[in-house]
Amino acid sequence: ELPASVTVWEVGPRDGLQNEKAIVPVEVKLEFLDRLAGAGLTTLEATSFVHPKWVPQLADAEQLLARLDRREGVRYPVLVPNEKGLNRALDAGVEHIAIFASATETFARKNLNSSLDEQFAMFEPVVTRAREAGLDVRGYLSMCFGDPWEGVVPAKQVAAAGRRLLDMGCSQLSLGDTIGVATAGQVENLIGLFGDVGTLAVHFHDTYGQALANTLAALRCGVSTVDASAGGLGGCPYAESATGNLATEDLVWMLEGLGVATGVDLDALVGASVWMAGQLGRPSPSRVVAALCPP
Ligand code: HMG
Ligand code: MG
Repeated sequence: ELPASVTVWEVGPRDGLQNEKAIVPVEVKLEFLDRLAGAGLTTLEATSFVHPKWVPQLADAEQLLARLDRREGVRYPVLVPNEKGLNRALDAGVEHIAIFASATETFARKNLNSSLDEQFAMFEPVVTRAREAGLDVRGYLSMCFGDPWEGVVPAKQVAAAGRRLLDMGCSQLSLGDTIGVATAGQVENLIGLFGDVGTLAVHFHDTYGQALANTLAALRCGVSTVDASAGGLGGCPYAESATGNLATEDLVWMLEGLGVATGVDLDALVGASVWMAGQLGRPSPSRVVAALCPP
């Protein structure tokens, strides 16, 4: 039994561009966002209010939001790690934030400069204050299946960390396969440890080519929000071996075939990704982009 429709949570402008070696000009980011909205995507993760030295690619978050032409019916969530980031996001007028935790000790250190426990202490006041201000808060959880330093991550450990984010007040929990090592059985098993599938989203990277299979497994478990990155851009600068996310085109192609509604115009989306690939100077790694728009 598959959901009748899926919400595609587009992370290309954030997860994709945070990993580009070159700094993409703010004008290009703005046009990318506009083209993605034009293709019918209604959730565009726009940028991050993290330390600019940690992610210089997104240091222009204030400029980007100041110049963003917000479209009716489109939400523009941003990543926020701490209260400093929340203050910046509130000043920029955001309505939707995402905090991002790690399921493992090592990645909490590498990505957030904190321990597994300390990260929750850092997020707690962020979530409380954000909700008081009327913002919606998503919780990401990274390294849900495997970690480059710790190996296979026990599902119980992941479920416990995820529950802490939900209990803290996150309205949605996105389960991240940060380095793209998960296989479908692991996905089913982890989702089975959560009572309310309605609060879950999945976030797959495609390092081992498993992202679509994993997505289908999650859909069959009742998950109906799927993260993806236009053209398959991305990776994580603090996670060794992470490649791009599941390409939004690959996701939409599969969902169209399955008769699951997304509201996305695939041709317009491919056009946006091909345009962005031109800006970045290399072809999109998405198989669907390559098939529909051969060079
Ligand atoms: P820290 O160095 O421990 O920060 O970094 P601190 O609290 O000790 O503060 C040090 C200085 O940084 C201070 O300035 C703060 O004001 C400043 P000083 O007093 O020295 O002048 N500072 C900030 N400045 C601007 N914005 C801020 C901010 N915070 C502190 N928000 C910190 C800790 C969390 C800030 C850092 O580790 C960080 O920015 N990490 C972000 C890493 C990141 O963005 N990673 C990629 C996103 S996660 C991901 O991609 C995974 C995901 O896709 C899901 C998946 O695939 O699994 C979501
Ligand atoms: Mg990611």
